Amino acid sequence: MPSDSSASSPASREVQSRILEAFNFRHACKLFDPQRKVGEDEFNTLLQTARLSPSSFGMEPWQLLVIQTPEKRELFRDFLWGANGASYGTTGQLGTASHFCIFLAHTGATMKHHSDYLQKHLQEIKQLPQEVIEFYNGAYQKFQEHDFHIENDRHIVDWSARQAYIALANMMTAAALMHIDSCPIEGFEMDSTCAVLQEHFGIDPERLQPVVMVAFGYRAADPAFPKTRRDMADIVTWA
Ligand SMILES: Cc1cc2nc3c(=O)[nH]c(=O)nc-3n(C[C@H](O)[C@H](O)[C@H](O)COP(=O)(O)O)c2cc1C
Repeated sequence: MPSDSSASSPASREVQSRILEAFNFRHACKLFDPQRKVGEDEFNTLLQTARLSPSSFGMEPWQLLVIQTPEKRELFRDFLWGANGASYGTTGQLGTASHFCIFLAHTGATMKHHSDYLQKHLQEIKQLPQEVIEFYNGAYQKFQEHDFHIENDRHIVDWSARQAYIALANMMTAAALMHIDSCPIEGFEMDSTCAVLQEHFGIDPERLQPVVMVAFGYRAADPAFPKTRRDMADIVTWA
C-alpha cells in the first residue's frame, strides 16, 4: 500500500471502527431466533437504504417482495435449498427470519431502451425535461447496444440484477450497523421459484424475474465458523 502521511481525525477513526465492527458482525446467518422480530422502523430504514441505493442510469430496475406469512414462505420450501435448513436439520432462514425478501429484476419488457415504462420513469420519477429525456434515451441505447453489449433479455435481467445486488449489500450493511443479522440467498431453483411467483403472487416472469433473496432477523446462535477471507494483498493491486 502506498504510504499516506495524512492521518484521519479521531471522529473519522471512530466511524471507521464502527463500520469495520459492522462488517465483522455480519455473517451469513443460517438460523434466526424465531421469537425476535426486527422493529417496523428498523425494517423501514433498511427499505430506505435499498430505495436510496444507486442504479445505473438511475433506472431502478428491480422490485422487492417481502414475504411474511408462514404459509406463503412454505410455498418455496422444497426448492429453496439455500434457506430451508435442509443441510442443518432446521427450518432454516425461511422458517425463522423476521423478514424474508425476494429481489425481482426487471426484464427487457421494461428496461429495453425507449420502452414505455422508461419514458414514464424518466418523465414522472426523474422529472427530466423532454430534451434531456431524448439525450438519455440515446445514451442508454448506445450503452445497451454498443458499450455493454446488452443484446438480449438475459443480458438485461443480469444488468438489472447487478443493480439489485447494490441495494442488497446496502441493506445488509445497514442491518449490521443496527446489529440486525441477515443472509443473502441464491440457493433456489429458478424455474420453480418463477412458477410459484407467477401462480401465487401474480408476478409475470416476462416482466420480473427473481435474482436473489435476503433474510433478516436476529441470530439464534453465534456463527459456527470464524470469518475467512483472502489476504488484502491477494485482492488488491495498486498501480
Ligand atoms: C449472492 C449470495 C448468495 C448466497 N446464497 C446463500 C444461500 O443460498 N444460503 C446461505 O446459507 N448462504 C448464502 N450465501 C452466503 C455465503 O455463503 C457467505 O456470504 C460466504 O460463505 C461468506 O461468509 P460470511 O457471509 O458469513 O462472511 C450467499 C452469499 C451471497 C453474497
